[in-house]
Amino acid sequence: NTYRIAVVVGSIRKESLNRRLADALVRLAPADFSFHDLRIDDLPLYNHDDEEHPTEAMQRLRREIAGSSGVMIVTPEYNRSISGALKNALDHGSRPYGHNSWEGKPAGIIGLSSGACGTAMAQQHLRNILAVLDVPTLGQPEAFIGYYEGLFDEEGNIGPKSRDFLQGWMDRFAAWVRLHAGGRA
Ligand code: FNR
Repeated sequence: NTYRIAVVVGSIRKESLNRRLADALVRLAPADFSFHDLRIDDLPLYNHDDEEHPTEAMQRLRREIAGSSGVMIVTPEYNRSISGALKNALDHGSRPYGHNSWEGKPAGIIGLSSGACGTAMAQQHLRNILAVLDVPTLGQPEAFIGYYEGLFDEEGNIGPKSRDFLQGWMDRFAAWVRLHAGGRA
């Protein structure tokens, strides 16, 4: 596959709705895209003191971001912001100073919550963070998804009511990655 996308799911629980959303979105991607998960649940709490002695998990994170053509971030909303786990991963990838692995990686952000505001506030916070990390982030379509029965069908695909919208999101995200890759992976 030409384009290799790092997937970051901001919830680390087993039954995560955002995990299910990420898996369903991957199935809507073009054939020349491949996806791999960035594991974030084994990263230590970011501590500046550890920067010069990174654990294997920290090194793996940096390596995998560097080897990606783009990033898809699927975020939950915790108390009107992103989860601590996601912020921790963003901080780890941004360091050591002068070696920000996220820089220039085209990103799409999306999220699903059980509440009616569908991660809108978490995603706005996330855009602030991605701006300072110099991550070109897809502006439209915004996708603030509130969970409802039938969002996923029995096979784990996006159900009929949201299918066209989320296919449209994936198409725009893929075009965004191609644009920033300048035709290269
Ligand atoms: C939540 N939830 C939540 N939902 C929301 O729409 N806005 C919010 O601010 C919050 N805040 C919040 C804080 C904490 C600590 C938890 C655990 C949960 C509910 C949240 O959307 C719901 O638990 C989702 O299912 C979380 O995503 P995952 O884990 O299913 O991917």
